[in-house]
Amino acid sequence: MGNITIKTPEDIAGMRVAGRLASEVLDFITPHVTAGVSTDQLDKLCHDYMVNVQGVTPAPLNYCPPGYTPYPKSICTSVNDVVCHGIPGDKVLKLGDVVNIDVTVIADGYHGDTSRMFFVGEPSILAKRLSEITYESMWLGISRIRPGTYLGDIGHVIQQYAENAGFSIVREFCGHGIGKVFHEEPQVLHYGKPGTLDQLVAGMIFTVEPMINAGRREIREMSDGWTIKTRDRSLSAQWEHTVLVTETGFEVLTVSAGSPAPPAFITNQAAGSPVSVD
Ligand code: MF3
Ligand code: CO
Ligand code: CO
Repeated sequence: MGNITIKTPEDIAGMRVAGRLASEVLDFITPHVTAGVSTDQLDKLCHDYMVNVQGVTPAPLNYCPPGYTPYPKSICTSVNDVVCHGIPGDKVLKLGDVVNIDVTVIADGYHGDTSRMFFVGEPSILAKRLSEITYESMWLGISRIRPGTYLGDIGHVIQQYAENAGFSIVREFCGHGIGKVFHEEPQVLHYGKPGTLDQLVAGMIFTVEPMINAGRREIREMSDGWTIKTRDRSLSAQWEHTVLVTETGFEVLTVSAGSPAPPAFITNQAAGSPVSVD
């Protein structure tokens, strides 16, 4: 199986800081996500906050994985039928839009990666339900994290929950190991079979970031080389946290004062150990 790094106590301390700072960028931008704002304005606000207030580096800016062109902005803004990697631009948000904002900071060499959904005014009943199911599926996956869990167990609960709700899981993108490197092993698929793939070990850190479509799971890539949309133009939602595997369970690293509460099925005991799930 894979070559998954185990983080040292020093790495974990650095990842806690990076995770909190990434989440605080989302707290900062929340009041600005309103009708009439352009996604470029959101990008500039986040960029200046990260660079000038937090003193961190926006990881997306000029990020260039093999086969890609350099990413031109500091955050991703994925509106309505955009699945992920929406590039901020002239697009002006209007009432009824739903947007995912995905932030990754590099703080003292460590990456913190998190995204949330935002509603511009009142969302449609479908958009609200899609976002809620996506949020709950992310947390259901996170709740399974502890030493010995298989990556396939996580993918399975996410897939089952989303598909039972009548939605579909995007297959082409997944969660990922993260640390000094933005995207490293393992791949964290949001679908799968229990008891398959790698088993978790304390000290691993990875993201859980399901992309869930209201319609069919197929996607298409736009000519900008980055933006991914649903092929059938249905709505798509995504939430993301960066999570540490602890000796007894998990610790979500991308938390801050403005983090939305976990769903009711997560009973947050001391140090975030997962209990009484589903
Ligand atoms: N933050 C995204 C993730 O969750 C990656 C964005 S890459 C970018 O993995 F270049 F588009 F920013
Ligand atoms: Co990620
Ligand atoms: Co992200």
